[in-house]
Amino acid sequence: MSQETEAFINHLIAQMTPEEKIGQLNQYSADPELAPDLLRQGKVGSLFNASGALTGHGFSDSGNAEISNHFQKIALESRLKIPLILGRDVIHGFRTVFPIPLAQAAAFNPELASEAASVTAREATANGIKWTFAPMLDIARDPRWGRVAEGNGEDPFLGAQMAAAVVKGFQGDRFSAPDKLVACAKHYVGYGAAEGGRDYENGEISEPTLRDVYLPPFRAAIQAGAGTVMSAFIDLNGIPATADRRLLTEVLRGEWGFEGFVVSDWESIKELIAHGVAEDEAHAGLLALKAGLDMDMVSGVYHNTLGESLRQGKISPEILDEAVRRILRIKHRAGLFEHPFTDTTRISRDILTPEARALARTAARQSMVLLKNNHNLLPLQGFRRILIAGNFIHARGELFGTWTPDGRSEDVTPLDEALRHTTPKGVELWFADSPDLAQNLTHYVDAVVLLIGEHPARSGENCNVSDLSLPPGQAEFVEAVAGLGKPLTVVIFAGRPLAITRQISQADAVLYGWHPGIEGAAALGELLFGTESPSGRLPITFPRATGQVPIYYNRKNSGRPIRNEGLFRTRYLDLPPVPLFPFGFGLGYTQFEYANLKLSHETLRGTLEVSAEVTNTGARPGVEVPQLYVRDLVGSLTRPVRELKGFQRVLLQPGETQRVRFTLQEADLAFTRSDGTFGVEPGGFHVWIAPDSQRGLQGEFRL
Ligand code: NOJ
Repeated sequence: MSQETEAFINHLIAQMTPEEKIGQLNQYSADPELAPDLLRQGKVGSLFNASGALTGHGFSDSGNAEISNHFQKIALESRLKIPLILGRDVIHGFRTVFPIPLAQAAAFNPELASEAASVTAREATANGIKWTFAPMLDIARDPRWGRVAEGNGEDPFLGAQMAAAVVKGFQGDRFSAPDKLVACAKHYVGYGAAEGGRDYENGEISEPTLRDVYLPPFRAAIQAGAGTVMSAFIDLNGIPATADRRLLTEVLRGEWGFEGFVVSDWESIKELIAHGVAEDEAHAGLLALKAGLDMDMVSGVYHNTLGESLRQGKISPEILDEAVRRILRIKHRAGLFEHPFTDTTRISRDILTPEARALARTAARQSMVLLKNNHNLLPLQGFRRILIAGNFIHARGELFGTWTPDGRSEDVTPLDEALRHTTPKGVELWFADSPDLAQNLTHYVDAVVLLIGEHPARSGENCNVSDLSLPPGQAEFVEAVAGLGKPLTVVIFAGRPLAITRQISQADAVLYGWHPGIEGAAALGELLFGTESPSGRLPITFPRATGQVPIYYNRKNSGRPIRNEGLFRTRYLDLPPVPLFPFGFGLGYTQFEYANLKLSHETLRGTLEVSAEVTNTGARPGVEVPQLYVRDLVGSLTRPVRELKGFQRVLLQPGETQRVRFTLQEADLAFTRSDGTFGVEPGGFHVWIAPDSQRGLQGEFRL
């Protein structure tokens, strides 16, 4: 922490009344009804630039620099002239909507995600927002949970890489820069483990799994400098995360050295009453503040109760000062005292630039995952008449995904139009928006492309499903045209892995498009017709059926592992034991071969280089994503059958071979051991360089 900042804050705190201190701990919605006197009296620390709790589902007036400046001006009329910090959910883009975070994770390209976050920061700050409630870093092993769309999938290593990259993209080197945002690592922690995939449900996570799977992305975000953290709604292991002193204070601050502030989730301080750990608001306020929760998002509990708790000596002045200090520190570091206002002319320069759109297109293209491509049906070539059918054929805003309150449908070229633009000369496109029409027209065309999936409103906050099948009205298109003898491509837009086992068997080619954002339609056209090639890889396991969930690659072996022969092995009677597609899987328009795995040493001392040759054996250039996995064969606690430790994106020309190198360090093999300490255990390891989490060249080494 900088001495200048600390001196400034201490000086300020020395002048603040208890009311003004408590004021800094309150965040309210920036609605026009908000009494200006609250601001003038210094009773508000932050405004939340959103119209309400439903911001995640649809358009919500973004406000703009003028409105932010208006509120800021009133706040600066307060006695001590402490500026507000204005926050908003700017999750995967502002006006330039990038693919949903899960899709961005599928690109296995953290630098690209970082650039996207940087564009997002520029657009949001031009609108007077200085703080985003992102990145969402919840590990998700259950795609029934609607918020799987908002995170980076199931893997802690990929999650940690994405976390660091996105935090850097939002914040840059200094978040005081006018075009940078303060990031918020959320939801701390374990929120993705909500039972049954039901949002807001309780969860149980063992300490080793919490430490080795759920915490690493948060730790990476803190190491990358994330200014704030948001507590999760969840009751984890019997303690609501909003009141969990061990996690909010001992781990986050004590172990990791976090110096920013923690904001609650929406009303989650008040919800401590419903959880059954607090008797009333006053009790809830005490629990949260003492746990290390600094800012109250909209519940009003701190505002209503902390003054009295202080007078009664139930909280010490020091604990209040500490919370205020953390909030003022971020405000100071964000440059708000010096530059509280937003330059209103930026809006005309910084929004929806051609560069931003181009980046969104690259991101959409790299995020789509080719799951099947029999007889190299894709890219579509040599077909004169192609039928495009499905519920998404005219999609615009439907391509955005969840949490895009600032996206505008009119900025999106509708899918049918975008496909017309990318169709090669001489190819006729026909369109059908009903299964019946699609069936009739199929007889007259040479190939069929179906654009189906789930609407964005079906994923995101509290949009959980009990059935991972395609939603009603989608599979009907496939049923109508499959088996009619025409090459069939199915493109699926979704915010989660759907159980598409039947569609995979019916179609010749399947491309998973996720919710690809503002340039998704154009990116799809480029991939379908082959001006570009798919290179995305699954950041989450695809189950065959809902009943397979939870299913994830970094599982433990069990005493009766699935791969062994015999009846009494872990299994279902009615499903194969493996997923439909494993973590890390994805095809391109060419083929790759892996050969000659080499390890620099038999024993890891310091570092170990693991390398393999990857050859493009097909006829087109293509990007392969070689992945490094390890397995710790014997541990004091059981160890996952594989853990991702590295990945690269490698562009190879036809016939080209490249030796792909990874370096493993001892620290990469550390885990939470049976005695609760974190470190390595000597012994044997398997290592793979692999195209996905189920295949690859295997070697071994010792530590
Ligand atoms: C509730 C959500 O859980 C959180 O992710 C979001 O940032 C807040 N609402 C504010 O909209």
